[in-house]
Amino acid sequence: MNYRNAMMTTLVLTLLAGGQMAAAGDGAALYKEKTCVACHGPDGKKPLLPVYPKLAGQNKAYMAQQMKDIKSGARANGQTAAMKGIMHLVSDDDIEALADYLSKVKP
Ligand code: HEC
Repeated sequence: MNYRNAMMTTLVLTLLAGGQMAAAGDGAALYKEKTCVACHGPDGKKPLLPVYPKLAGQNKAYMAQQMKDIKSGARANGQTAAMKGIMHLVSDDDIEALADYLSKVKP
């Protein structure tokens, strides 16, 4: 049931995003669906706390690597514990789509 709700959310958000390229649209939808927006703010521009990073316009490869390291526990510094808790929600493909989307947002 949760999976179905998630699919519906993705569909609705993708439709709302309207006419964007598929890869960018997926990343934008995932960013909201996987709760990234709660901590990193709309479009990765307004983090919840000053100790949380802005993501808009950051290098794609760098972000993808950081997400993988936070997920695996290889990166466990500063505030990473806050984010690690939700990383079971994202696959490697999701990480690529998210990094692609965020790297293309103008900071
Ligand atoms: C509960 C809060 C929270 C959520 C949810 C969250 N993050 Fe984070 N994220 C953080 C914090 C805090 C850090 C910085 C960790 C540190 O202090 O080293 C971070 C770091 C990052 C970094 C590395 C930034 C850098 O400059 O090194 C990326 C990329 C990132 N998050 C992307 C995401 C994405 C994409 C999602 C959704 C799948 C997400 N985050 C969900 C809190 C969160």
